[in-house]
Amino acid sequence: MSDRPIELPLELVSLLRASPRLVALTGAGVSQESGLRTFRDAQTGLWAQYKPTELASPEAFQRDPKLVWDWYAWRREAVKGVRPNRGHYALVEIEKRVSHFTLITQNVDNLHRFAGSQNVLELHGNIQRVRCADCYTFTETWDDDSESVPRCKVCDGLLRPDVVWFGESLPRDQLEAAVTAARSCDVFFSIGTSGVVQPAASLAFAARNRGAVVVEINAEPTPLTPKADYVVQGKSGEILPQLVEAVWG
Ligand code: APR
Repeated sequence: MSDRPIELPLELVSLLRASPRLVALTGAGVSQESGLRTFRDAQTGLWAQYKPTELASPEAFQRDPKLVWDWYAWRREAVKGVRPNRGHYALVEIEKRVSHFTLITQNVDNLHRFAGSQNVLELHGNIQRVRCADCYTFTETWDDDSESVPRCKVCDGLLRPDVVWFGESLPRDQLEAAVTAARSCDVFFSIGTSGVVQPAASLAFAARNRGAVVVEINAEPTPLTPKADYVVQGKSGEILPQLVEAVWG
């Protein structure tokens, strides 16, 4: 089935051709067409089935580390079973054609890097990375089959996924670079995110307050929709390749 053709306003096309500094913020919606579940989709979203307070918080890990470890191990396997989609690859193409392109992602699935994106800021960490909960030592190897949560070879602390849990601070270097990029861009894309989780959800407004044009690409309206300069509603895997073709084709 062919993609639903999109109509891009000519002034947006010429603006994108003339803009050296682009930023894209992505969320779970970008990976949906790869077969990964989003978080807040009413039926299929992870948070419709699982309680974030029971699985994605330091308190949950304190309470039941094995439950949390196993849940992320399950998600890590799910990620290993999928591939980037055309939306991911279109963002790689944009990076090749624009002098300053920054990709800020809330996704922990590593699919942007897998697709070939270079300048990626990971606001919420990366599920492929594992570190010690106590001494922060990263490790490439761990025993996933044991009855208990694997332990750090340096301090014997519990290992955990290197993702940001609810109530935890974002990695300072990634967040600072994201804010700087948002405040100095010409066009800010918000793609496949519900725009309800802070501080990521404030980046579009930080860009807008500095005069950037905000473009939202999302399957549904979000709190950003009424504030965006351009809204293209639909699937990012269908829209982004057409946008690349229309602007830089
Ligand atoms: N193309 C474009 N948008 C899509 C698609 C698609 N194929 N499929 C779903 N969407 C949209 C949904 O309409 C929704 O608005 O993507 C958005 C996904 O929103 P969430 O599930 O809330 O995911 P996200 O915004 O990334 O969540 C932010 O919350 O749970 C935490 O840490 C987690 O990084 C995550 C953060």
